[in-house]
Amino acid sequence: MSDGGKPMRLWGGRFEGGPADALTRLSVSVQFDWRLAPYDLLASRAHARVLHRAGLLEDDELNRMIGALDDLEHACVSGEFRPTVADEDVHTALERGLLERLGALGGKLRAGRSRNDQVATDLRLYLRDHVRHIVSRLVELETALMSQAEQHAETAAPGMTHLQHAQPVSFGHQLLAHVHAFARDIDRLRDWDRRAAVSPLGSGALAGSSLPLDPQAVAEELGFGSAAPNSMDAVADRDFAAEFLFCAALVGVHLSRLGEEVVLWASQEFRWIEMDDAYSTGSSIMPQKKNPDVAELARGKSGRLIGSLTTLLTVLKGLPLTYNRDLQEDKEPVFDSVDTLLLVLPAVAGLVATMRVNTARLAASAPDGFALATDLAELLVRKGVPFRDAHEAVGHLVVWCQVHDKTLDEITDEELAKVSPHFTPDSRDVLNVPGALAARKAHGGTAPDRVRDQLVALREIVDAQASWAAGA
Ligand code: ARG
Repeated sequence: MSDGGKPMRLWGGRFEGGPADALTRLSVSVQFDWRLAPYDLLASRAHARVLHRAGLLEDDELNRMIGALDDLEHACVSGEFRPTVADEDVHTALERGLLERLGALGGKLRAGRSRNDQVATDLRLYLRDHVRHIVSRLVELETALMSQAEQHAETAAPGMTHLQHAQPVSFGHQLLAHVHAFARDIDRLRDWDRRAAVSPLGSGALAGSSLPLDPQAVAEELGFGSAAPNSMDAVADRDFAAEFLFCAALVGVHLSRLGEEVVLWASQEFRWIEMDDAYSTGSSIMPQKKNPDVAELARGKSGRLIGSLTTLLTVLKGLPLTYNRDLQEDKEPVFDSVDTLLLVLPAVAGLVATMRVNTARLAASAPDGFALATDLAELLVRKGVPFRDAHEAVGHLVVWCQVHDKTLDEITDEELAKVSPHFTPDSRDVLNVPGALAARKAHGGTAPDRVRDQLVALREIVDAQASWAAGA
């Protein structure tokens, strides 16, 4: 940004002196809101057409206005037009650009419009556009998780509760659990989009306009579903930003949980996976190290995503209607969360897509920690033993095994019978991991066949999500 010339202000008329430097420095937002420029220009074109239809711009004036806006857009893209610190915000900078091109005619565009409805419109347009990019990146992560899940539908792994071995699961089932979380995130963002598709333009500063504008036509041109039904709400409302930040924070939380699992899986203690060199880092001092920085950063970045949400909610709390300058503080948390997700998601997708799963080790440790104890208890239940008694009997068996340093499948028939009369030689039939997985075949269970069913259903959902993001 250059240091600019004479400060450009949209509000100088009633002031005798210029603003203090300290005020100017506090007030300026163009250094971060400049990224709204393409959306501000879109909205300006729609507004120009509405002014024309209202008879407030001649045909020739409209053509010159649109031409100048197009030219300004090119100049912004090429970098030939840049905001300066003398421009208070993106709207001011672009009005300067328009005046430079059109002279007095440029001043006609502001009729019936205020920065209050403009900025609310720009931020909605920006977010609706970027949410589609975020969803595309989420789809890539879902796809990476699903293709690993497909390869590992049959791979047995220790399933955990309390981070303790609980029951064996298909590793594919566990990977798909993460896909379901991300699929809900996308569903939430699509639902958000429906609520965000309301155009504030036409609300003016707060009360609408006495000029014969057509807010519905503007809304339609900008791809919104409708125009705001209440001008005061339209300029004061930042629910769309807060709700987006909640959705982003929850994606962050989901990424942090996946990230934490990857950190564990890659550790020497687990050794469930090996990360590809391209998605792991070394240590500056310990030559042997291979660190899970991608997963750790995914975990860590959830902190700033949650922080953005709390920042905005705190800004909004207690604000009287309608527009207050506090609302300028909405943009940085929104931009930061968008940037963070667009940065983290491709890295996590790459990490997942390229990780190598140590199938043999997973399968070998799946029965550890007496993970088949529930299968044994359920076998007794099928024979008519009350679950309470079955639980007790298997509990005794586990203690017996611990005392004798044996695993469940190492016990002899005689030893079984000694612990409880409920146990018969066929009890040992259920003490194998593939059988335990296959047995959990009810809807939602970890049986490999059910995992494959889930994959079929998820593929359909994810395809629809990808088409939505692509604008289809
Ligand atoms: N830069 C301002 C913002 O981000 C634009 C709206 C300014 N409106 C005003 N009445 N000063 O909120």
